[in-house]
Amino acid sequence: MALAFLGFMAEGVVTSILFRSKDGQDRVHAIQRHLLIQAFAFLCLLGGFYAIYQNKVVHGKEHFKSVHGKFGLATFILGIVAPLGGLISFRRLGLLQKFPDKMQPRIKWAHRNIGILTWLLALVTIQLALTHHAVWKGWVTRVWQLAVVLLGALVVGLAWLQPRARPMPAGADFELVMEPTQKHTPDLPRTQAD
Ligand code: HEM
Repeated sequence: MALAFLGFMAEGVVTSILFRSKDGQDRVHAIQRHLLIQAFAFLCLLGGFYAIYQNKVVHGKEHFKSVHGKFGLATFILGIVAPLGGLISFRRLGLLQKFPDKMQPRIKWAHRNIGILTWLLALVTIQLALTHHAVWKGWVTRVWQLAVVLLGALVVGLAWLQPRARPMPAGADFELVMEPTQKHTPDLPRTQAD
């Protein structure tokens, strides 16, 4: 789970924030990279979930009892929904075009928000695990807690600051605008390639 969320998914989210300002083939390649990294994250997520589930079965314990367990289950479900939404959002795969034109920017908007929400929820779930008596190791755990908060703050800061390219109403293909992107208003697809 650590590899899935602190490793691959963190990297995958950063990749996606950085391809905001790209266009054309550059953007398509960056999305393919995002897809590959998130596929590794997904495999680790499945492996981690299997290990956790089996551990409870072996010890004859009930599942999803603690607050960490409940948050973990929600994170796991979102961890499945997010990549599915991503696969639909990637125009190259041909799924997005099966939806009405009006819905397409909304699907991408939903993927962006579910994606970041999944990762942030995972950070909360990690914090809840760190305080568990079986995990707590004094100051070492405090350092982990701080590191997780810092990582979250850095990525949210990057998401806030990174400009998003929006299509111009006429003329040029797109322009770069600096704006607080967490408004996440549904925007138009900039090209038909992604
Ligand atoms: C758990 C897995 C995933 C997470 C957490 C995730 C997260 C994100 C985030 C946070 C963004 C928005 C970045 C921004 O703020 O601009 C994004 C964008 C995007 N992701 Fe993912 N993603 C995941 C899987 C995938 C997969 C498997 C694909 C398949 C190619 C994909 C395709 C895309 C595309 C096309 C966009 C751009 C959408 C747009 O044009 O607005 N994602 N992703």
